[in-house]
Amino acid sequence: MKKYITTPIYYVNDVPHIGHAYTTIIADTLARFRRLQGFDTFFMTGTDEHGQKIEQAAKQRNKTPQEYADEISSKFKALWDDFDISYDYFIRTTDENHKKTVQNAFMKMYEKGDIYKGEYEGFYCVSCETFFTQTQLLDDNCCPDCGRKTSVVKEESYFFKLSKYEDELLKWYETSDTSVLPKGKKNEVISFVKGGLKDLSITRTSFDWGVKLPDDLNDAKHVMYVWLDALVNYLTTLGYTLGDEKMAYWDDTTHLVGKDILRFHAIYWPAFLLSLDLPLPKCVAAHGWWTKDGEKMSKSKGNVINPKEVADVYGLENFRYFLLREVPFGQDGDYSKKALIERINSELGNGLGNLLNRIIGMSGKYSEYKIDKNNTAKFYQSELDEAKEYIKSAISSLENIMPNRYLEEIWKIVALANGVIAKYEPWTMMKNNKADEANALVSLCANLLAKIAVLLSPAMPKTCDKIANALSFEISNEMYVKILLNDELLDFVAKPTQPLFPRVEDEPQKDQEMPKQEIKQSKDDIITIDDFAKIIIKVGEVLECERVEGSDKLLKFKIDLGEDKPRQILSGIAKFYNPSDLIGKQVCVLSNLKERTMMKKYVSQGMILSAEDGSLTLLGTHAKVKNGSIVG
Ligand code: ME8
Ligand code: MG
Repeated sequence: MKKYITTPIYYVNDVPHIGHAYTTIIADTLARFRRLQGFDTFFMTGTDEHGQKIEQAAKQRNKTPQEYADEISSKFKALWDDFDISYDYFIRTTDENHKKTVQNAFMKMYEKGDIYKGEYEGFYCVSCETFFTQTQLLDDNCCPDCGRKTSVVKEESYFFKLSKYEDELLKWYETSDTSVLPKGKKNEVISFVKGGLKDLSITRTSFDWGVKLPDDLNDAKHVMYVWLDALVNYLTTLGYTLGDEKMAYWDDTTHLVGKDILRFHAIYWPAFLLSLDLPLPKCVAAHGWWTKDGEKMSKSKGNVINPKEVADVYGLENFRYFLLREVPFGQDGDYSKKALIERINSELGNGLGNLLNRIIGMSGKYSEYKIDKNNTAKFYQSELDEAKEYIKSAISSLENIMPNRYLEEIWKIVALANGVIAKYEPWTMMKNNKADEANALVSLCANLLAKIAVLLSPAMPKTCDKIANALSFEISNEMYVKILLNDELLDFVAKPTQPLFPRVEDEPQKDQEMPKQEIKQSKDDIITIDDFAKIIIKVGEVLECERVEGSDKLLKFKIDLGEDKPRQILSGIAKFYNPSDLIGKQVCVLSNLKERTMMKKYVSQGMILSAEDGSLTLLGTHAKVKNGSIVG
């Protein structure tokens, strides 16, 4: 079984940044995962080097477009090599085989009757390399996608009969569940297509830097529209029309893209493919946009994140983890050092790293590092069963391109393993002459960790190899089948190792106590029901509540929200409540608020809601309800 996975080919008008790294890392994780599952997987990336934008960028630097493209393309390639991106092919659109493939594809579409000659009159955004009609533009003829000024274009042009494919496209979106992911993005595409498609101008005459038309057409003043040129790259890579067997990979294709170029991949590209009589991709998956500390990244603001710098300081695989975990696939995300550091120290260090340490420590103490699987299922079958559910869910999440969910599920296994140690206290078992149970518990944890390492290896390959090495086993497709699909348990010999995730020091923080907000309501504050749906408020019971040393405002709570573990939440109501009065009370908690660290050391996992009228009064329900009940 074959799988084909692609990234966009990036423009060489600028050096790689965090957004490019994000797409490429997701694609790499997916490719590694498919290989782990045993699929014959082909993974490509590359650079997009033609078009007016590149021609202009080169000119500004007094270089020929080719010199300039060579220079930047090699930077992308060097970065991906440095990042251990497991691509099988790196394409450049200036490669001879690519130019030939584009010409062949053009000729096929022409012969099919899908291309005709006419005149284009309209607007063009060079930065987005996109045509627009007047009605699509913002004020002052600015581009609706990037806001830059468009230019008026009136030139002879060949057109592609995009309108002809409207119905077939709509049918594809409807009949294939995975055609465009996530679902919300698919709906945007559908409404765009339903709004009506215009034929697409696919050649330019006002500049030179592009693939020439096929010789047969004898029309030397035209070059191909850069998007036609660029999209065909996905076929060049597999040797389309050049007699290469790699076209067999085409039948199961996943294109990963950012939302900025979804329209090209989910509308124009499948229409070209229909014209070429080729099968449509299995999946076009579009992710959201990264900002920095809440702002759009741009060269003029000087806030563009260089992925290499981040990886050098914080570790490549920690960075990979952060990117994959921080935002739900499809949503926009914000990069901040603080969020990165928090994830490294808490989920990676305290969660995963600690688990390995504890296993090594306990096995050293109880059994000279030998871990025997024998009694594991006898004492801990329910924990094994629970882990099995998380594994299934992690696998299907990644198969459905939800890398964040995949990691969340894996971390449920991390929490399960750390949780059983805290719950059963193997050291107490040892004292009480229950060595069998204690050793079985160590084996349970080691087996859970082995499953974690195999499952996580596509996202953090080197880290997981270290874990496997510390437990003396190897990660492979056979191991995937054996311990993840067939539930087999392993014996291990543990080896003391260096900590996997040395603690990263945070920068000095400002006082984390919440500033009081003045809220004025205006028309602009109106939200839709969808906005409200993002907010998950739950009812929970206060299990513990105490003052926080060093703060006269904060109380620290443990609250049962009907989840596996109670949450720790800090709330600034110390002036209004006695901690002991609150124990046993039910309160309302904003439960999907991002975790944050307060007073430098307390993680707060949500926000307790209260009404403010000069003093603060906690919100509750009129009658007792089940913990975890949703408020809506
Ligand atoms: O569009 N956040 O190339 P490009 C998230 N050559 N992703 C980002 C990002 C950000 N801030 N910035 C860039 C092109 N990306 C064409 C593609 S494909 C046939 C031709 C990522 O260099 C994201 O994947 O402008 C986005 O789609 C891509 O880089 C755009 O790269
Ligand atoms: Mg772009």
